[in-house]
Amino acid sequence: MTELAEYLATCSQRVESFFDRNLPSKDQAPTTLHGAIRYSAMNGGKRIRPALVYATAETLGIELSEIDCIAGSIELMHSYSLIHDDLPAMDDDDLRRGKPTCHRAYDEATAILAGDAMQALAFSVLTDHSIPGPEPALRSQLTNQLAHAVGSLGMAGGQAMDLAAVDKDISIQALEYIHRQKTGCLIRACIDMTQTCCTTLNQQQRSSLLQFSEHLGIAFQIRDDILDVISDTDTLGKPQGSDSDQNKPTYVSILGLEESERRCDTFYKQALDCLDEFKPSSKWLRMLAEHIVCRQH
Ligand code: IPE
Ligand code: IPE
Ligand code: MG
Ligand code: MG
Ligand code: MG
Repeated sequence: MTELAEYLATCSQRVESFFDRNLPSKDQAPTTLHGAIRYSAMNGGKRIRPALVYATAETLGIELSEIDCIAGSIELMHSYSLIHDDLPAMDDDDLRRGKPTCHRAYDEATAILAGDAMQALAFSVLTDHSIPGPEPALRSQLTNQLAHAVGSLGMAGGQAMDLAAVDKDISIQALEYIHRQKTGCLIRACIDMTQTCCTTLNQQQRSSLLQFSEHLGIAFQIRDDILDVISDTDTLGKPQGSDSDQNKPTYVSILGLEESERRCDTFYKQALDCLDEFKPSSKWLRMLAEHIVCRQH
């Protein structure tokens, strides 16, 4: 195992043990809904967002036990977004993380409700004072940050624009805006919410970390668009070619593969530049950024 693979495995274990402690048991009524929630949350995602939360905490010297609730809330929000993203009314995909999508394993109504409940749970684990975490005043700020990241001016808005762009010719600027909203906002929240827990940062340092997260978020979605073209379904654990099957504008459909790879690399390098003042404590953040643009799934 490489050093980074070990780090990612540790982050996954941390967030999965948080889920195990804080998600309703599948034996608790309504059992089908709770089964669907656990099926969709504990199912082998890469856990890149929790890893970004933990790596930001390491960069800033924050105790990991203080921000488990941030990692957990963001990954719950992400997992809910994938359930809804796969629904017939959206991307209509049958495979996710190597298994049938939630609406295939269960049914559409259960998938919609599992997503709804996971979004509520994401806010609940962040605000529940019986769950270890930051002090109350910070928790209210964190809740606001998460709400902004996933609302109509963030992820949900990006998803709306993504669907509206099907069968359309749009400019690369318009696509980049969609990518920033649908994917970038939650990646940004990983860094932004964690840095909220560090009261000693100056304005310049906060802004550098935020810029890092914004460049990284766009690079993340460009790589996702590239993988939809160059990878295969087994490796991805989700259907390869889903974007082109639906005639969705992507980086690759607009700019071609080579230029998309070049732009992904440019965003990656711009992201790294923003971490200059955090050397050497940003080691894991830098390694994660490299992983995000080189990953095979
Ligand atoms: C997929 O995200 C959805 C996008 C925002 C592109 P990930 O590639 O992080 O998916 P999982 O969590 O590892 O399944
Ligand atoms: C999904 O983007 C973004 C969100 C779920 C918010 P995609 O539709 O490209 O993600 P995949 O490729 O299905 O994982
Ligand atoms: Mg989608
Ligand atoms: Mg999709
Ligand atoms: Mg995709």
